[in-house]
Amino acid sequence: MRTALLSSIVALALSVGSSAQTLLQAATAVVPAGKSYNLTTLQSLLSPSVLGNDTFNTLAAALGGGANLTVFAPTDTAFAATIQALGGVQSVTPLVPQILSYHVSTSIVSVDYLKANKVSFIPTLLGNSSLSLIKPQVLGVAVGSDGKVSIEYGLNEAAKVIDTVVTSNGVIHVIDSVLIPPVNASATITAINAANQAPVTFKNLAAALVANDLLTAVDTVTPITIFAPLDVGFEAVAASLNSGQLEAYLKTVLTYHVIGGAAAYFPPSGSYQTLAGENITVVSETTNYTVTINGQPVLDTVLLTNGVVHVIKDVLIPPSIAKVLTPSSDGSCGKDKGTCGAGCCSQYGYCGTSSAYCDSGCQLLYGKQCATPAPSLEGKCGPGVGSCGDGYCCSHFGYCGKSDAYCKAGCQSAFGRCDH
Ligand SMILES: *[C@@H]1O[C@H](CO)[C@@H](O)[C@H](O)[C@H]1NC(C)=O
Ligand SMILES: *[C@@H]1O[C@H](CO)[C@@H](O)[C@H](O)[C@H]1NC(C)=O
Ligand SMILES: *[C@@H]1O[C@H](CO)[C@@H](O)[C@H](O)[C@H]1NC(C)=O
Ligand SMILES: *[C@@H]1O[C@H](CO)[C@@H](O)[C@H](O)[C@H]1NC(C)=O
Ligand SMILES: *[C@@H]1O[C@H](CO)[C@@H](O)[C@H](O)[C@H]1NC(C)=O
Ligand SMILES: *[C@@H]1O[C@H](CO)[C@@H](O)[C@H](O)[C@H]1NC(C)=O
Ligand SMILES: *[C@@H]1O[C@H](CO)[C@@H](O)[C@H](O)[C@H]1NC(C)=O
Repeated sequence: MRTALLSSIVALALSVGSSAQTLLQAATAVVPAGKSYNLTTLQSLLSPSVLGNDTFNTLAAALGGGANLTVFAPTDTAFAATIQALGGVQSVTPLVPQILSYHVSTSIVSVDYLKANKVSFIPTLLGNSSLSLIKPQVLGVAVGSDGKVSIEYGLNEAAKVIDTVVTSNGVIHVIDSVLIPPVNASATITAINAANQAPVTFKNLAAALVANDLLTAVDTVTPITIFAPLDVGFEAVAASLNSGQLEAYLKTVLTYHVIGGAAAYFPPSGSYQTLAGENITVVSETTNYTVTINGQPVLDTVLLTNGVVHVIKDVLIPPSIAKVLTPSSDGSCGKDKGTCGAGCCSQYGYCGTSSAYCDSGCQLLYGKQCATPAPSLEGKCGPGVGSCGDGYCCSHFGYCGKSDAYCKAGCQSAFGRCDH
């Protein structure tokens, strides 16, 4: 029945503003002469023999029905390029039902809508399949300052809208590339890292996820929102923390970058609970479409099979860890006291640089280091600073030297030689 309907309407002319036609009729009609594109590949794919009866019936019912929808129609040139890129018709055929479902949105993306929503994520018919663990999978729509519309998908690629056809039950946007559904988080990170001369990479994030057994988790938590710091962000954290702190805190820090149970594409301002248990603060501006996470701007957004990744520069430090890392103000250190700005945190919770602080019992978590640092010869000494080198005395005022002014009255024997 539907097959007969399809073939009988193929002869209908596709023309802009022909609102008597439904989406299905317009999508399967011959493109009028004079257009810079053809849609014959799409038309040949919209058949029960390619899609299977179930997908075909679902698509045909949606496109021929009364609900307002949007169809993204790749040109023949776009399909040819995709078929070549994916390794030929054989590799593409099994994916066609899912890929075509990704080209139909249940939300109408009219010209008015685009004017009002310069950045949005619109639901598609794709859901709950090997290419989409979430239902529905979305597309990103962005309107440039030149007014040109692009449809963002997969690994940060964008299709340009080259023509728009209005029908009685929605719109068809003719696009210059096929919308390939996103891949999972680990495959996304791997692909970005492998991309030639990628402006950004996530090699440190990938390594940290692997080291903490979290790589499978980011693929299987569904839906998921991930905040992905750049390599420079991880490098800054690694430079400011010692090995003990990195080991103790990294897993909590990583899970602080994940919201489970929600795909927050353009999250409204608010407080969101992360998998680390602590909350992040999101501020979204609908005037210029900027989003900040704990004050850090989102630099880019990438869709995933199971959710979304927002790229940020720096690593987000959970408040509980930030509190511990705060330099101690009174020379004491520990879980509730803070970390020594320099030197070591002794087993009794005091900051210093001599072996009494840095050797046995030294708490690596709350100091810059453990094990005695090189002694000071001429410089400062004393509690929280350290000892003088061999043969030097630590004066009452905390300076190293060899004269009586250093070695007699007031000399601090805990930090060097004294001549009493
Ligand atoms: C569209 O198809 C027609 C008929 O095959 C062909 O003559 C025309 O050159 C095609 N147009 C484009 C832009 O490929
Ligand atoms: C699909 O539908 C056609 C016509 O309704 C039917 O002949 C065919 O057997 C169906 N194919 C499958 C795989 O169900
Ligand atoms: C489709 O959109 C038109 C124009 O915005 C509107 O008049 C109509 O009610 C909509 N139909 C449905 C089923 O939403
Ligand atoms: C996805 O499919 C599975 C198995 O077919 C089903 O159990 C699950 O409820 C579906 N999820 C959604 C969101 O439709
Ligand atoms: C993620 O995607 C890759 C590439 O498609 C696949 O090999 C891997 O099994 C997927 N991971 C999970 C946990 O599904
Ligand atoms: C954390 O976020 C959740 C929502 O995800 C909210 O219900 C809760 O009140 C927040 N907690 C704090 C301390 O802000
Ligand atoms: C976006 O708007 C907010 C609020 O007006 C402003 O603080 C912020 O600097 C703007 N961001 C950009 C990138 O223009």
